[in-house]
Amino acid sequence: MSPAPRVFVTGVTGYLGGHTVMRIIEKHPEWIIVALVRNVNQRNTILARWPKIEVVLGDLDSKELLIEEGKKADVVVQIASSDHIPGVLALIEGLSQKKPAPGRLIHVSGTGMLNDVSNGFGQPSEKVYHDIADVVEITSLPIENHVHRDVDIAVLEGNKKYSVPTAILSPPMIHGVGKGPIKTRSIQIPFLIDAILKHGKGFQVLEGQNMWNSLHIDDAASAFILLVEEALKPNGGNAQWGSDGYYFAEAGEFKWGDVSKAITNSLLAQGAIKNEDVDKLTVEQASALHPWAPLLWGGNCRARADRLHALGWKAAGPDMFETLPSMVAEEVKNFGAQSNTTTFGK
Ligand SMILES: NC(=O)c1ccc[n+]([C@@H]2O[C@H](COP(=O)([O-])OP(=O)(O)OC[C@H]3O[C@@H](n4cnc5c(N)ncnc54)[C@H](OP(=O)(O)O)[C@@H]3O)[C@@H](O)[C@H]2O)c1
Repeated sequence: MSPAPRVFVTGVTGYLGGHTVMRIIEKHPEWIIVALVRNVNQRNTILARWPKIEVVLGDLDSKELLIEEGKKADVVVQIASSDHIPGVLALIEGLSQKKPAPGRLIHVSGTGMLNDVSNGFGQPSEKVYHDIADVVEITSLPIENHVHRDVDIAVLEGNKKYSVPTAILSPPMIHGVGKGPIKTRSIQIPFLIDAILKHGKGFQVLEGQNMWNSLHIDDAASAFILLVEEALKPNGGNAQWGSDGYYFAEAGEFKWGDVSKAITNSLLAQGAIKNEDVDKLTVEQASALHPWAPLLWGGNCRARADRLHALGWKAAGPDMFETLPSMVAEEVKNFGAQSNTTTFGK
């Protein structure tokens, strides 16, 4: 009998990583999960929830530790950060030393890297990126004005230098309250709810006609799991790796103005604000509420998950307008007590 696959995961304390590990454990209790956490408190919380997983102490700057863990892993799922080059390079170096063959890396990026404001903030753009047809264009976008691109480039360079099969999974705006052990809050919608509460009233960036894709947290988890399953098959299964290994995951599109309106209505219904108006803020005014407002809520990031669909993946989670009231309730409950920093803002 072949030994149980060993999967090393970063970001288990986070929203996306914590939820994904939960779904992995449910679906694949036979896998050995090893998780990176920064400190003993986090370790205790994780082990209280999942006594059977292995936990190692360190962070994405713990080069020697990441090389050692990479060396032992069949698959590394890097979900802690889309913005940490030394971490992914150390993991790739470690995976290259796995015997008898290198292990595989699945790295989280994000469709924020597509940011398109060619028609101005708050305006729609026509450009839609298909991850099969446009893979060369997607993996050639400049670093300037495109978050995460520096790390995506480093991953592909690492793939070539070390002959380690890599896949980059690039989710869009993920919604829904997570069920992981520590952080359960996503980024863009919670930060927008928080900013609206700070503003005391609904707002959108200018006309609010700009578009993004959405994805329920369960569907984000299922996309990662599918890629790990493929990674564990001989020769990486039917998935593509390296320069073609770029995957979007998405479940349809929305306009940010519609989200602002829905949040405003929900906050009004929950008694957290007093009227239903939605202000049209300039980029400068929105940036005063969050420094990354132009990227978070003001541009277009339009992607199509053709590559995952070709592997049989389907989004099955609820629509974002269904999950929104629960996200609003969480933000109202925790208003002022949470950090609104991003990995690309550090
Ligand atoms: N949520 C989304 O909608 C979305 C969509 C696309 C892409 N992404 C990207 O996916 C990544 C994870 O997102 P998330 O929403 O899960 O964020 P999150 O809730 O903040 O989770 C990230 C987790 O990774 C850990 N982490 C971050 N940097 C680390 C480092 N240098 N060393 C060790 N641990 C580190 C953090 O630990 P501590 O708590 O100890 O800092 C945190 O628990 C981010 O880079 C994000 O930009 C997210």
